[in-house]
Amino acid sequence: MKKAIPLRDGFFVFENKPLIIKKNSTMKFKENQILAGDIQVTYIDEGKHEGIPIIFIHGFPFNKWSWENQIDVFKEHARVLAYDVRGFGNTNPGTVEYSIDRFGQDLFHFMDALQIEKAVVCGLSMGGYIALNAIEQQPERISAVILADTQCLADTEEAKVKRMNTIAAIQEKGLQEYTQDSIQKLFSESSLANKKEEVLFIEHTIQHTRSETICQTLKALAGRREMCPFLELITIPTLIMVGQNDQITTPEVAQKMHERIAGSILTVIDNAGHISNLENAGSFNLALLQFLKPEVVNVVA
Ligand code: MLT
Repeated sequence: MKKAIPLRDGFFVFENKPLIIKKNSTMKFKENQILAGDIQVTYIDEGKHEGIPIIFIHGFPFNKWSWENQIDVFKEHARVLAYDVRGFGNTNPGTVEYSIDRFGQDLFHFMDALQIEKAVVCGLSMGGYIALNAIEQQPERISAVILADTQCLADTEEAKVKRMNTIAAIQEKGLQEYTQDSIQKLFSESSLANKKEEVLFIEHTIQHTRSETICQTLKALAGRREMCPFLELITIPTLIMVGQNDQITTPEVAQKMHERIAGSILTVIDNAGHISNLENAGSFNLALLQFLKPEVVNVVA
């Protein structure tokens, strides 16, 4: 028998309904642009324009198209937005220094420009750093948060040196070697072998990102603050997700975050590395759907 998962009043998703869409091309959804603070932000805006929207924030060095599988499913239930962080995809790089604080402010400029007072925010990795920063800046504007494949720790001295060496290598040799190294760390072994389309997509994404943006963001990531003590102050509904084989932000790291955020839910996504929303979109979407149901987070107010 099919098991129905309630989403919100009158809406159900059947357990065996496909929760994955096939990635066939870019431009599946319309790209929009809006002036937000000092930059033109490029974004996707789909679904019902009622209730509390969900804003997806991509990881490094990706862009909004990495959320295609989620947009396709969640647009049936809520307003879904995915935007390109400053300098990524088609959003302007601007002229200011990059930092996670800056990216957090950018999120609010984006929300202000669209007159969005409150949103559910879902961030993967760097997107999770931005989401945490945003909750610290204006907690009243984030109604729930999904922290995927991310962490609250700052870079160690060793990690900072590694990032600086990466910048030097990119400046000397370009993005080719950097892309190949990144792919090996981002995906699980099984995804590398079996998810060729997703791997090619991320390879293409990295190679088409401005080197200047990658280098500036590497500096921003190296300079980010530790947010672990702040987790204890979070009171909004929180879902933490992590790929079972994530080597960058491991399930142990996710478990520690879960222990610090009262009432948080931790879901380990099997058959996935660091890009769990892409490597196992079905399980990722299912966990997110369950989180967004009325008893937990009513995405439609
Ligand atoms: C990401 O996926 O956003 C990065 O792994 C974040 C980081 O390098 O700290």
